[in-house]
Amino acid sequence: MPRMYLDFHANGKRRAPARATAHPLEAPLVTAEATADLFSEQSGIHGLGVFTRSAIPAGAFVIQCQGILRHKDEVVEGMRALQIGPETYLAEDPEHPRLDDFINHSCAPNVGFVDGSPKLFAIRAIAAGEELFWDYRTSINEAGWAVDCTCGASNCSGKIQSYCDLPEEERIRLRGIVLEYLR
Ligand SMILES: C[S@@+](CC[C@H](N)C(=O)[O-])C[C@H]1O[C@@H](n2cnc3c(N)ncnc32)[C@H](O)[C@@H]1O
Ligand SMILES: [Zn+2]
Repeated sequence: MPRMYLDFHANGKRRAPARATAHPLEAPLVTAEATADLFSEQSGIHGLGVFTRSAIPAGAFVIQCQGILRHKDEVVEGMRALQIGPETYLAEDPEHPRLDDFINHSCAPNVGFVDGSPKLFAIRAIAAGEELFWDYRTSINEAGWAVDCTCGASNCSGKIQSYCDLPEEERIRLRGIVLEYLR
């Protein structure tokens, strides 16, 4: 996400070639490097989400984001891709969908890029059965990019926006969980 895993509906870019939709019952997702016991399931927020079977203590490493390194011009609409630099994305491998490709966004996330690298750590204690959420605004930095947010958090602004488009106080609030290139 923007894996950034975000789907790129907004940029008018080419549509990605059709690919098989991963379904937890028919095609278990490849487990990305993770220490917790994670699984994918239908989310109440959007599509598939990622959940933990075991409790995760605050501060624990949760999952490494992985993918194919792509220049931003190669990222097409519908591709799950995580922006990791001004012009660089980590894009999903359609042949090998991974759990980290399916983590949804929340404006009140429970995991974040605490050390600035594309690894997610628990930013509070997470109970068994909870869905994992990171804040997409801590990765995407394409001016004007935005999607509606349905996370339902009390602080949700209704819109997921690029880091560069956030008010300064919000950027300051997020600074401890943004990727290195935004610090
Ligand atoms: C990497 S995918 C996450 C997995 C997605 N649920 C799926 O099944 O493919 C990112 C996309 O999920 C959707 N999404 C994730 N979190 C969301 C949220 N809080 N509100 C609305 N849509 C969300 C958006 O369409 C976003 O572009
Ligand atoms: Zn929200």
